[in-house]
Amino acid sequence: MKAFALLLAFAIASTVDASVFLQPAGGLSARHTHLAHRGLEVSPRTLSKRCKARGGQNASAPPPTNNAGQNSVINVQSNCGPSGATPQSTSTTGPNGSLDWLNCGINDSGWQPPYIRVQDLLVKSLADSLNSGNSVFENCRPFVQLFEQYGSQFGVPSIMLASFAMQESTCNPETIGGAGEQGLMQLTSDKCGEAPGGNCRDPDYNIMTGAKYVSSLLSQYGGSVLLVIGSYNGWVQGMTYAQATAAAYTSCCRCQNNLDYLFQYVNGWLQNVNSYDNSHPLGKYFNLNVCNQQ
Ligand SMILES: *[C@@H]1O[C@H](CO)[C@@H](O)[C@H](O)[C@H]1NC(C)=O
Ligand SMILES: *[C@@H]1O[C@H](CO)[C@@H](O)[C@H](O)[C@H]1NC(C)=O
Ligand SMILES: *[C@@H]1O[C@H](CO)[C@@H](O)[C@H](O)[C@H]1NC(C)=O
Repeated sequence: MKAFALLLAFAIASTVDASVFLQPAGGLSARHTHLAHRGLEVSPRTLSKRCKARGGQNASAPPPTNNAGQNSVINVQSNCGPSGATPQSTSTTGPNGSLDWLNCGINDSGWQPPYIRVQDLLVKSLADSLNSGNSVFENCRPFVQLFEQYGSQFGVPSIMLASFAMQESTCNPETIGGAGEQGLMQLTSDKCGEAPGGNCRDPDYNIMTGAKYVSSLLSQYGGSVLLVIGSYNGWVQGMTYAQATAAAYTSCCRCQNNLDYLFQYVNGWLQNVNSYDNSHPLGKYFNLNVCNQQ
């Protein structure tokens, strides 16, 4: 359900009817990399095995210098060459780095994203986005306080939490996923043990637990925020172009990884920009479009 996750994310701001994607979707939902699923799928042990098998990566490299505050473009060092960031956005680059840079390696031995920490990302404030009068986060408005409170407590920008909530549930607290995932952040049952009165959809509990979980993923991934974001679309370190698009030739075309996903996330969502705006699409692969013809 990788593609579905993304569609969900933008359903509110696009012509897609969100309700379609909130139905239990069988095989599709099985592929959906829910917030909470990752905890079950990627234990720290399997993760470190994978990293080793794929030749490391700089999860434990010295953190790059964060000049985000002083510069209008992202400024991190990486093995992926220059970030290609430009102060003005285009469909394939922007202040937060170019699409090729974010997708580094996918045409060769596999995806090895630049090491970017949460604090290196240039993000908008969720409150500012909502005050802009034209927010893609309108559904999340009732929960802003909670996103901010728990974002600050767990060191995750509130707009990232809201983006995941949009993606998982279009910020509808009553959402129940295909495998019983609960609420805004689509928590799996293993995370519901402490829920007040057994109600895992309680927004306070749900967002708190989701924030804590994202924070734990960040630790597991050595602080690499691109690995964490990518994991929501099923990206894993070492993913090749062929692997990402293999599902195009199966009965589950939308189970492909969306190769524009990272770019759309950091230069779309996190900037209160609807990257699915058809008049102004962000990206260049659009590898899921082939599914519309089937
Ligand atoms: C990790 O970072 C170091 C120093 O920046 C670099 O020399 C090395 O090649 C990197 N290793 C990998 C696997 O990216
Ligand atoms: C990247 O970040 C800056 C700073 O927040 C923002 O103004 C810009 O719109 C972002 N998006 C793109 C595509 O560059
Ligand atoms: C991979 O190849 C495609 C097609 O040639 C190209 O458009 C894209 O920029 C390449 N991606 C990267 C990350 O180099």
